[in-house]
Amino acid sequence: MSGMEKLLAQCAPFPGVLLAWYDEHRRSLPWRDEVSPYRTWVSEIMLQQTRVAAVIPYFHRFMEAFPTVEALAGADTEQLMKLWEGLGYYSRARNLQKAARIIAEQGCFPQTYEEVLALPGIGDYTAGAILSIAFGQAVPAVDGNVLRVMSRITGSEANILEDKTRKHFRALMAQLIPADRPGAFNQAMMDLGATVCLPGGEPLCGDCPARDICAARQQGRQKELPVRISKTRRRIEEKTVFLLLCDGKAALRQRSETGLLAGLWEYPHTEGQLDEAAAAQQLAQWGLTPHRWIKQVRFHHIFTHIRWEMVGYMVEVAGSGPTGWLWCDEEERAKRAVPSAFEGLTRELPQG
Ligand code: ADE
Repeated sequence: MSGMEKLLAQCAPFPGVLLAWYDEHRRSLPWRDEVSPYRTWVSEIMLQQTRVAAVIPYFHRFMEAFPTVEALAGADTEQLMKLWEGLGYYSRARNLQKAARIIAEQGCFPQTYEEVLALPGIGDYTAGAILSIAFGQAVPAVDGNVLRVMSRITGSEANILEDKTRKHFRALMAQLIPADRPGAFNQAMMDLGATVCLPGGEPLCGDCPARDICAARQQGRQKELPVRISKTRRRIEEKTVFLLLCDGKAALRQRSETGLLAGLWEYPHTEGQLDEAAAAQQLAQWGLTPHRWIKQVRFHHIFTHIRWEMVGYMVEVAGSGPTGWLWCDEEERAKRAVPSAFEGLTRELPQG
């Protein structure tokens, strides 16, 4: 028997026990209780890099604001960004709208793997999720959860951060996914990974439908699997961020239209971590006079490939700053999307 044949033999009971477990334990979620290609697509984009509990309120608000692909295609971008505020990874929202315009122009949601994959913001996992859940096609959706579950069941020591491991498990899942319930199968995998086969040392093996076939459990190696060896390290960027207050208003400026967090509103900041004397010089360069240094905070934010290490100064100032800056009261600020990267500082704002 080939390696794949052996794995298939070991995993043969898995789809059956998994679906029986899912029928009893499935999570009731807003995009599951009413399914359409549009709802599935939007939810899957929101769920990329974001936990289910965080997504639910955003999903409701999104569907209310943009109930159809056409509504999203024609939406005001500033309103869309505001709605996305706090979810992070804003390129997801921009890509959603780009894709909505393509779909609206075509007149219907694409239904082949190649066409769905070609839409902006959609990778192989999301394409598999949409095609299986919304269109009943037997396409696997392999993400980190699935890689963890399958590494444990099969006792695999392959590095799940490598492409070839991902391909291997995609091929295995393509064989295991049942043609009659592909959407349920993929969602059952998501639920199993999120609620039972938890990352780290304490998976709830007693509750797992795969407990009798799981190699990691038989060998007591749940903690060691999956193997994740990362080659890339995040680049660290240091910044000094200013929360400048004048007459109860805070200064915001708009980021450029390209690059990280493009077009969002931000607090003025500079490269490097400045001490108070250097920070005062920076204020002078912006034409501002500090009246009162209120607070200094240290905080950080992690992006996919970059880690921002920030020092923040809350300062009462006089002056209006460079052209283009906006001085916003709380109501004005609330209308603008400010990335959560700055939340460590926003938290310090007095609540009115
Ligand atoms: N994570 C990604 N997609 C999901 C879905 N459809 N349901 C629950 N969790 C998910």
